[in-house]
Amino acid sequence: MSEYILEIENLTKEFPGVRALENVSLKVKKGEIHSLCGENGAGKSTLMSCISGVYPNGSYEGRVSYNGHETKYHSVKDSEKEGLAIIHQELALSPYLSIYENIFLGHMDTRFGIINWNKYLKESREFLKTVGLNEPPETVVSKLGVGKQQLVEIARALSKKTELLILDEPTSSLNDDESEKLLNLMLELKKQGITLVMISHKLNEVLKVADTVTILRDGKSISTYDVKADNLTEEIIIKDMVGRILTHRFPERKSTPGEVIMEVKNWTVYHPDYHNIKVVDNASFFLRKGEILAFCGPMGAGRTELMMSLFGRSFGFRSEGELFINGKKYILNSPRAAINSGLGYISEDRKSLGLILIQDIKTNISHSSLNKISKFGVINNQKEIKEAERYRKDLNIRTPSINQYVRNLSGGNQQKVVVSKALMADPNIFIVDEPTRGIDVGAKTEIYGIMNDIITSGKSVIMVSSELPEAIGMADRIYVMNEGLIKGVLSKEEATQEKIMHMALVG
Ligand SMILES: Nc1ncnc2c1ncn2[C@@H]1O[C@H](COP(=O)(O)OP(=O)(O)OP(=O)(O)O)[C@@H](O)[C@H]1O
Ligand SMILES: [Mg+2]
Repeated sequence: MSEYILEIENLTKEFPGVRALENVSLKVKKGEIHSLCGENGAGKSTLMSCISGVYPNGSYEGRVSYNGHETKYHSVKDSEKEGLAIIHQELALSPYLSIYENIFLGHMDTRFGIINWNKYLKESREFLKTVGLNEPPETVVSKLGVGKQQLVEIARALSKKTELLILDEPTSSLNDDESEKLLNLMLELKKQGITLVMISHKLNEVLKVADTVTILRDGKSISTYDVKADNLTEEIIIKDMVGRILTHRFPERKSTPGEVIMEVKNWTVYHPDYHNIKVVDNASFFLRKGEILAFCGPMGAGRTELMMSLFGRSFGFRSEGELFINGKKYILNSPRAAINSGLGYISEDRKSLGLILIQDIKTNISHSSLNKISKFGVINNQKEIKEAERYRKDLNIRTPSINQYVRNLSGGNQQKVVVSKALMADPNIFIVDEPTRGIDVGAKTEIYGIMNDIITSGKSVIMVSSELPEAIGMADRIYVMNEGLIKGVLSKEEATQEKIMHMALVG
């Protein structure tokens, strides 16, 4: 038997107008954690879709062998039968079904037409224990946060007797704590003999768990390293990812914040379902002209809820408190009213709130700014194209054409469309929720540069971020939240990761 569970030789995959993968070769050893790194659009997700049958045999060139034999998968079902499971970048559970139904959906024993639900309910408890998810299996999945949904996906994979588990950016939506747990779970699964492939932009996590790292660039396999033997560092990975040395991850900015342009006083938000629970409790803060504010805190701290509720009451059953913009009190009852008063919001959830996946890039970008490209209600197509082309170039959105459906873009490039859309609407106050989620290191720096440009032009940014280095590197002041409360504020000079975490817990 070969020491490799998976061998990919000269794999090439084309979409109309795009060569997503070109002669990629890669070998995954049995029992290892193999990480796949590369810029947005490098071809990571596509590669995993080819080997797992999402793209059937025959739709790509090259040879894929699994456990020593060449694969000919026609669908995901075929690869699952052989013990290969993939957890996609965007989670794929059925939100209205329970945890245990999700775990066994599609591979239940339906002999005699009867499903023994009790048996599955019982079995699911075992799997939930393995992945460390402390929830009753009857819980409806939509009630769980992303971190817990991730664990359900893994439990589902384990229930299918998986030998090779592929995780596509598993921690991109998780906070530090949840990420840590997930990484430990991966190490635990490795101990049990499962081979793992992890795609990630979080290079510190890659170095923490991976035995081997392969780097893709522009659809080609560039290098493979043994993490220990080669003394692999983030710098080496980045150099191979982007093809050059990246010096300043946070571009320099001289910040000279001016007068207060927005002030929030005693803002309280009530839970949409449980009407007397306060999700945000009496929050007060202010924002100055030309300033970047960051909101940090653990998941569930209320940061997103606070911002969404300020943005035209997009969240919550009810909210109380006062909002002043340029000294004038505003009552914003809809997102439209918020936009009209100069607010812009980039949602953390690009799939359900930010983008229309079945429309093209240019339509998505201009969606909130139709007034800028139309006259008497008629859209000027030339103008729309020109604007979209400009953002494609400025943000380096990788696509053959702005007429491409957003659905066909890589995850990180979808995020760049979300950012373009907000930029084009040109608000005075940008509220950005996890602006760099799923974005590669190079593109992150591009987005930070854009944020600096926004500030320099006299506008202001409020950034919700779970990445503390990002908050510290970019913000002028950092508000720390936990359990719905603003626990304190730190200036750029004072802020350290330890202080932020301490403030969140102790206040
Ligand atoms: N269905 C499709 N139709 C057309 N082009 C596609 C399709 N799927 C992917 N592509 C293109 O193939 C290339 C590789 O995309 P892929 O999703 O594999 O990138 P990735 O490395 O996973 O990036 P990210 O880090 O942003 O998730 C991109 O240029 C993307 O636009
Ligand atoms: Mg991807």
